[in-house]
Amino acid sequence: MNVLIAYASKHGATQGIAERIGSTLTAEGFPVTVRPVEEVDDVTHYDAVVLGSAAYALHWMHAATAFAKRHHRDLAERPVWLFASGPLGEDTVDKEGRDVRESSEPREFDKFADELNVRGDHVFFGKWDPESEPVGLMEKIMEHLPGNPRGSLPAGDFRDWDEVEAWAHGIAEELRAG
Ligand SMILES: Cc1cc2nc3c(=O)[nH]c(=O)nc-3n(C[C@H](O)[C@H](O)[C@H](O)COP(=O)(O)O)c2cc1C
Repeated sequence: MNVLIAYASKHGATQGIAERIGSTLTAEGFPVTVRPVEEVDDVTHYDAVVLGSAAYALHWMHAATAFAKRHHRDLAERPVWLFASGPLGEDTVDKEGRDVRESSEPREFDKFADELNVRGDHVFFGKWDPESEPVGLMEKIMEHLPGNPRGSLPAGDFRDWDEVEAWAHGIAEELRAG
């Protein structure tokens, strides 16, 4: 059972999560391919797909959404898992008392839940380095805004590797169950 892990990442945090999901599924005995969405031309070689993206402004990156649209018909015929890397900081509950993973869900989760054969989705905490080179127009503009919003985001690596591995083990279990 061949598994594709396809991801969209601006600064590498989501790539790291995709790679850890990949190495966990490999250790579980599945043949795994981990690739940026832009490098995947065909999903029909794979029996299952895990698709993930960094979240920016409450959305998946455009490349991930474009991938899902481009391969819509083939994705709908196979089991799909979705993930996002996004929230920053140590707080797991927001000011309204909501689970931060829930309130950070990118809009695409709901959209693709209706359209694809989605077997599971998950939001992972992300990583942010305010010293990183701005990528894309939005970040370049932000650098010049008053108060430098890039610099005011919580800095650090908040990815929880145990959580990533546990989610990947869950996928392995479901794949084995068929
Ligand atoms: C300008 C900007 C906007 C962001 N917007 C969101 C957001 O709406 N929701 C969220 O959960 N995280 C948001 N984040 C945090 C990123 O998703 C997080 O840093 C992620 O791990 C980056 O992944 P990448 O390194 O793969 O690009 C934002 C970060 C930046 C710099």
